[in-house]
Amino acid sequence: MELFRRGLILPGPCLRDMAFMHRVHSIVRSLHLSVARFGYYLRKKPGVDPSVGEGDAMHLNVNGKDVEVSESIQPGMPLLWFLRDELGLTGTKYACGNDICGACTVLINGRNVKSCQITVAEAQGRDIITIEGQDDTIACALFAAWKALDVAQCGFCQPGQIASAVALLRVSPAPDDADIDAAMIGNLCRCATYQRIRQAIHRAAAELQQADVI
Ligand code: FES
Ligand code: FES
Repeated sequence: MELFRRGLILPGPCLRDMAFMHRVHSIVRSLHLSVARFGYYLRKKPGVDPSVGEGDAMHLNVNGKDVEVSESIQPGMPLLWFLRDELGLTGTKYACGNDICGACTVLINGRNVKSCQITVAEAQGRDIITIEGQDDTIACALFAAWKALDVAQCGFCQPGQIASAVALLRVSPAPDDADIDAAMIGNLCRCATYQRIRQAIHRAAAELQQADVI
């Protein structure tokens, strides 16, 4: 066992394959991250809010608080990186960085937005709510339903799933299965918790309606 732990003997073929795939996945992921960061440094201030004059400090409203953006931050930085790396709001996850998985979803002006796809400059003047700031009645009903139905597995995708579910219930208080599937289509779950997510949204919607909240 000790030799196995120290890598002096190799585990069985199945575990070896898994270890190999895990190594390949890590390499691909770090390459992807490097390319994404390189692209960011090449970009020239895309999407700068025209109301912000040269030399004006940028401000964001995150979870109800005004946040001044330091001068060292380029306006073209993806909002996701700012939230995670500068504000330490790591509940919002980075996965594909490419508008595919929805792990980075936050609420912006009440709508679900993938924060890897919007720049810091573009996010100015809008209300940004991350999972850390989700505390209204709809979010609380969803949290309770998520817990009651034991929705989360690894949990990685769940902050984004909750953001999309909140956005859905705000505009559609009694969604049917088709509404839920359409609203949640941008949020992938590698653990395939889709059925429980759907049930939890139904449950939260029913409880909110019973309490006459939505
Ligand atoms: S990390 Fe933003 S969509 Fe995947
Ligand atoms: S719970 Fe694991 S990715 Fe969704």
